[in-house]
Amino acid sequence: MRSHFCGQVTEKLIGEQVTVCGWVNRRRDHGGVIFIDLRDREGLLQVVIDPDTPEAFARAEQARSEYVLRIQGKVRPRPEGTVNPELSTGRVEVLGHELQILNTAETPPFQLDEEDVGEDTRLRYRYMDLRRPVMFERLRTRARITRAMREFLDGEGFLDIETPMLTKATPEGARDYLVPSRTHPGQFFALPQSPQIFKQLLMMSGFERYYQIVRCFRDEDLRADRQPEFTQLDIETSFLEAEDIMGIMERLMRHVFKSVLSVDLPDPFPRMGYAEAVERFGIDRPDLRIPLELVEIADLVKDVEFKVFSGPAKDKDGRVAALRVPKGGEMPRSVIDDLTKFVSTHGARGLAYIKVNDRTKGIDGLQSPIVKFLTDEALKGILDRTGAENGDLIFFGADKAKVVNNALSALRVKLGQELKLIEEGWRPLWVVEFPMFEWNLDEKRWDPLHHPFTSPDTDDLKHIEETPGELLSKAYDMVVNGAEIGGGSVRIHRQDVQQAVFRVLGIGEKEAEQKFGFLLRALQYGCPPHGGIAFGLDRIAALMSGAGSIREVIAFPKTQTANDPLTGAPSPAEEKALRELGIRLRKGPEKKN
Ligand code: AMO
Ligand code: AMP
Repeated sequence: MRSHFCGQVTEKLIGEQVTVCGWVNRRRDHGGVIFIDLRDREGLLQVVIDPDTPEAFARAEQARSEYVLRIQGKVRPRPEGTVNPELSTGRVEVLGHELQILNTAETPPFQLDEEDVGEDTRLRYRYMDLRRPVMFERLRTRARITRAMREFLDGEGFLDIETPMLTKATPEGARDYLVPSRTHPGQFFALPQSPQIFKQLLMMSGFERYYQIVRCFRDEDLRADRQPEFTQLDIETSFLEAEDIMGIMERLMRHVFKSVLSVDLPDPFPRMGYAEAVERFGIDRPDLRIPLELVEIADLVKDVEFKVFSGPAKDKDGRVAALRVPKGGEMPRSVIDDLTKFVSTHGARGLAYIKVNDRTKGIDGLQSPIVKFLTDEALKGILDRTGAENGDLIFFGADKAKVVNNALSALRVKLGQELKLIEEGWRPLWVVEFPMFEWNLDEKRWDPLHHPFTSPDTDDLKHIEETPGELLSKAYDMVVNGAEIGGGSVRIHRQDVQQAVFRVLGIGEKEAEQKFGFLLRALQYGCPPHGGIAFGLDRIAALMSGAGSIREVIAFPKTQTANDPLTGAPSPAEEKALRELGIRLRKGPEKKN
């Protein structure tokens, strides 16, 4: 049907006959001649049809946006002054002498080059939305990423092995998607939140190196970087220590960035302990491109009159931290008020600040609603520790540590964006030395910080059960530019350790047997030391293609409320299907509006 893609018709072909197929991006009538910008996946091509070829001309007159055409013609240089250097085909045009309309199209629901099309419309007409060159580019980048991943892993002796989609709950911290069984009425499969347990079983079988590019399902609150079904590059290895595994995974990512973006990531990636990350950035996935840091000042303000500071400073779960903004002194009151509102959406009750006008003048050189409540000594300590210079501004957070960390880490990123402080480039790092457990205040119990198969950094059962709050785990997260793109760990390979961890988590023997009996049994039949990682492919693709949300790099994503406007899923099931499954609904299906 075609000799060339539209986007491939360049100067090299001048003088030659070509046949191209594609969609009408735009049609313009120019007093006697018709211009058609024909589009296919490789790009745009300008075609000119003149009345000397009356049949082609008549058809060109009928053509409308998004009609599908096949055009034959001769490639010629564009006339002087009409060259478009932005296009690969911008120096040429095709003088078409034959034109076939392969299909017509309704008026498009939106112009492909329109900017602010609502997401619902974009998803409802996703097949149109995906015609936009930027979407091609993103999905192409994604395909190049998975190819580079496979290339690397195949070369390193990893085997691609599939694991079940209809399975039992895997605890990754979200709700399960359940699938009713017809052959076992009243029973349900769960869709996997990850292949975690199966990949561990494969290590117990001796496969040594496994990978899979695999869909995972999690019914959780959605955000820009979360989808109910998403894709992991899932990996597991045997007989390797955490350091070895991290080494291979760094090489993998260096290969991916090099082959897709021609970018050299650092070798090795820097490592940072969880405690340090939280202290300096308030978060365990710091964006190292932003040159702002939190500074602890609780010890300096324990005894001041200002209760907002001294209260949390004396509380063992409290934190008082400062964030210095170099040259922030010119920030007007209105901006500070907006930032105060911003941190309040992250739980903060206020945003105290000091403007440093002139350090030589002591307290008189400072401008702030709170200096009058602080001692000279405390103020001097704060200025010294934050390294404040004249013209700077210092923000403060004081509350439970969790609240301060949430608010100031978000503020740090917002200031980075708004003050354009974000440095160019790629800043990967490993976050390590995570706590093994985290106390769940609402439920009054220990939760795993990763998942319950992560190995603590000790196999002393007494230590595990008696002081769970002090344990670190052998987990590692890979973070790039503030996004957690992967997480993994060395796993528990001893049955007694696994049982002890279940006990700390309040999973009794009966429940452990019922949920994970198969795993506990497998651990008794010669389980090698093993560990692995899973990368979030959607997040990596979004990051590498510069997209603001992972929905931009998934061909057919769900909305923020986990539905699909294109197909209308989810939708009510037919009565007959429900009856076969032995299901009666408690309430009728909710009416969609
Ligand atoms: P984890 O739960 O950290 O680990 O997931 C691994 C990576 O998957 C990505 N990710 C998501 N991406 C899009 N939408 C979501 N809802 C979503 N949830 C997670 C993140 C994350 O870093 N079994 C373990 C891995 C292991 O221990 O080997 C696991 O699933 O980028
Ligand atoms: P107030 O005493 O409530 O008038 O607060 C005085 C200053 O402290 C204001 O600038 C508030 O924004 C700020 N502030 C109040 N609570 C906090 C807090 N928990 N953390 C940081 N700053 C606060």
